[in-house]
Amino acid sequence: MDRIQALREEITATAKQAFEQKLFAGTSGNLSAYIKEENLILITPTCVRYETMVPEDIVVIRPDGEKVEGHYEPSSEWRLHAAIYKAYPELGSIFHTHSPYATAFAVVHQPIETTLIETYFFLGGEVRCAEYATPGTWAVGENAVLALKDRGGCLLNNHGVVAVGKDIPEAHLRAEYIEDAAKIGFFARQLGEPVILPKL
Ligand code: 13P
Repeated sequence: MDRIQALREEITATAKQAFEQKLFAGTSGNLSAYIKEENLILITPTCVRYETMVPEDIVVIRPDGEKVEGHYEPSSEWRLHAAIYKAYPELGSIFHTHSPYATAFAVVHQPIETTLIETYFFLGGEVRCAEYATPGTWAVGENAVLALKDRGGCLLNNHGVVAVGKDIPEAHLRAEYIEDAAKIGFFARQLGEPVILPKL
């Protein structure tokens, strides 16, 4: 099977799993993979339900938005993905989720603190907040690029979450750990003042 077809299948299967895990809601959230050697981005289509999504629905674009293959339009956040791959070309996959606990932190502009060892180990440290920008614009990506420096993910203020990785499984795992850290942080705050862990 060629690489593009294999990635179409992996993106579709992982997006459905992320939907089941409630990392995505409705048709929101998006997932991409980057083939650096061919300078191609494969990305979920905009406004298509994850339950009905099939590998042929994945859209192949150039980083400037030119559509190479696909019967749907790419995710409305394709510029976010393209800006991050431009700044960090070593990345192979990006998840943009609206996972509820982490997005709650983004809504109050609070980073997810390093209260768990996983936050250092899987995410590289505190999950920072990227400044708000109008969804769908290049500015969303430019702000995320700053917040992602030396990190596996960041929050997008009043919007959602970005998780990145060398491949789809790594970006997915980081999206899961961002949500898990936010959930535990949320519960901890009901009990008292969270204690920050010193560096690994
Ligand atoms: P689409 O990928 O369906 O365009 O969703 C947009 C989105 O999640 C905005 O944050």
